[in-house]
Amino acid sequence: MAEVDARADRRSEGIVINDDWPGYSLDLFNYPAHYSGDLDCVIIPHGVIMDRTERLARNIMDDLGDHDIVVLCVLKGGYQFCADLVERIKALSRNSNHTIPMRVHFIRLRSYLNDQSTEDLHILGAEDLSFLAGKNVLIVEGIVGTGKTMETLLEHVKAFKPKMIKVAGLLVKRVQHSLASVPDYVGFEIPNRFVVGYALDYNEYFRDLNHICIISESGKKKYKV
Ligand code: HPA
Ligand code: MG
Repeated sequence: MAEVDARADRRSEGIVINDDWPGYSLDLFNYPAHYSGDLDCVIIPHGVIMDRTERLARNIMDDLGDHDIVVLCVLKGGYQFCADLVERIKALSRNSNHTIPMRVHFIRLRSYLNDQSTEDLHILGAEDLSFLAGKNVLIVEGIVGTGKTMETLLEHVKAFKPKMIKVAGLLVKRVQHSLASVPDYVGFEIPNRFVVGYALDYNEYFRDLNHICIISESGKKKYKV
């Protein structure tokens, strides 16, 4: 029984990437030449993200597959994960009787300047979410840090009385003072370092990078605002 519990726990935190994980050398992969010198290493190659996403899609279908869902994609950092996750859910839907009608809605949150979280959180496109009433909602986020952004968003969404809310986060950072609420579906738990790629940005740069990478100090300087 304890073993089953441990496995369930592991599933909820996703693939754990430890603090001492050195990552892969950039020389082992293709990446845009305009970012040479701006990155330290690849911490999650694109293919691994895709494989993990495929499994998350199955977990989501197992849990929510009996009801209509509204996917709430959190822009901009969540767009690639959301697109790929929705694609995998669609594939599962096509290939089985276990199928769910799915709507996708986009909202935008912004709280980061350089690599620092700012106090003022802006939610755009979320003014009227009354269509969420009575629905199963899946919030899809690229990265969850302290969880503060997610808490604010959850409060906002709850006010529109959905039937159920689940959160899928591709990445969850191991931060010291994180709030209790972690996503229901986690791709990877990562060290508390600033990562870019796969739609995650540093001042709008690096969204056009497929792998998830650690930005270098010179990269931070180069694109600082
Ligand atoms: N990278 C990009 N965006 C972010 C991060 C990060 O590490 N943490 C919170 N937003
Ligand atoms: Mg950002």
